[in-house]
Amino acid sequence: MTDRSLAVIVLAAGKGTRMRSALPKVLHKVAGRSMIGHVVAAAEALGADPVVVVVAPGMDSVAAAVKPHPVAVQTEQNGTADAVKAAREPLAGFAGDVLILYGDCPLIQADTLARMRQERQDEAVTVLGIRVRGVSPYGRLVLSADGTLERIVEALDATEAERRIDLCNSGVMLIDGARLFVLLDAIGNSNAKGEYYLTDIVAVARNAGLSCRVVEAPAQEALGVNSRAELSVAEVTMQTRLRRKAMENGATLIDPKSVWFAFDTALGSDVTVEPNVVFGPGVTVGDGVEIRAFCHIEKATIETGAIIGPYARLRPGASIGEGAHIGNFVEIKNARIDKGAKANHLSYIGDADVGAGANIGAGTITCNYDGFSKFRTKIGAGAFIGSDTTLVAPVSVGAGAFTGAGSTVTEDVPDDALAVARGRQAVKPGWAAEFRAKQRAAKDKG
Ligand code: UD1
Ligand code: MG
Repeated sequence: MTDRSLAVIVLAAGKGTRMRSALPKVLHKVAGRSMIGHVVAAAEALGADPVVVVVAPGMDSVAAAVKPHPVAVQTEQNGTADAVKAAREPLAGFAGDVLILYGDCPLIQADTLARMRQERQDEAVTVLGIRVRGVSPYGRLVLSADGTLERIVEALDATEAERRIDLCNSGVMLIDGARLFVLLDAIGNSNAKGEYYLTDIVAVARNAGLSCRVVEAPAQEALGVNSRAELSVAEVTMQTRLRRKAMENGATLIDPKSVWFAFDTALGSDVTVEPNVVFGPGVTVGDGVEIRAFCHIEKATIETGAIIGPYARLRPGASIGEGAHIGNFVEIKNARIDKGAKANHLSYIGDADVGAGANIGAGTITCNYDGFSKFRTKIGAGAFIGSDTTLVAPVSVGAGAFTGAGSTVTEDVPDDALAVARGRQAVKPGWAAEFRAKQRAAKDKG
């Protein structure tokens, strides 16, 4: 039935009080992307249109985060069926499939949802079921003798026997859009919470002579995040997936558990990542790159064969060319380091262009900021920047030029020149011995 058009409704109006946060719950991040961002991305991967996000009044930051997708406002949080009803207007006239997702379930995977659509037959309501043994807060799926779904009973409303059912409601439902709102209107609120339960749509559909069915999925994907502890569980699960994917794509992770990826980290093949490396969002790494231990990398591009770290920090806008070396305690921000250039020790290179094959000596600093504006430093191809050079931007050092160690460079240096900008050394022979003798004599007297 996958030729039917698809709309997605993402429920995100819940208060999330247990997060104890000023931020709406669904904006908390997993692998560098908000939870709702993960859910919306899964909806997009299925080609859903529209994707309507249901929010509570005042959740403007959520509306901004899901743009360009529309939001629908649920005025009061009267339950999941009431929340879906809030999307009535944006879905007026839509007769394809409507998939219901939760904004606080970031682990749901597009592949699973696609399979759910494929396995669907012609039932009015398909529920994604999970197997959970023992005590759990999930709604229980009650099946008929023929294996179809008869009704869902919430844990709070269930009898002891019903609570023993291990087939549970993940919360994900696929509903025939032509019937959705008619069925919702028949749902009442006489239950333990006095809420309008979306889960009751199954019994309502059955009463109307329609069929309902369950498609099963791994329980892991249904994890709902209500607290910071659950957020950390979601993070670890997501990281496990990302690490596995990186290795499947041909990267070596020496200690996978200590490498932290962002949702969009793109590694080429034959990349080696040593232990304790953190990737923020927006990182692309070319083939054969070596990332040594203890690096922090975000919004950066690293080209083929470069060596990064140990202990390097690549900040937004760092662009490292083929075969370049960035060594320990080197920070690069908004700067291009061309092919084969090296900055191996203790440097800050910000707002700069470093030419191919240039060598940046230990302790080099670009002084890019005067407290108000940022300025650029240009270093030509093959230049040699002496150790402990401070480059006061805007300034340029020409191709093949040298700067003397310890120089403070404030004026442009032409190609192939040497710039030395430091105090001349004076040597006074015997001075130290005389000084000591004088001091001792004074002490003996006193
Ligand atoms: C719901 C299901 C339960 C299922 C479980 C899976 C119902 C009645 N129960 O229970 O069967 O096992 O999810 O996690 O549907 N929301 C709104 N507006 C509301 C209420 C909720 O937008 O008025 C949103 C929440 O933000 C959340 C989602 O709907 O994203 C689910 O709500 P929640 O209160 O967590 O439902 P559960 O009680 O967990
Ligand atoms: Mg819940």
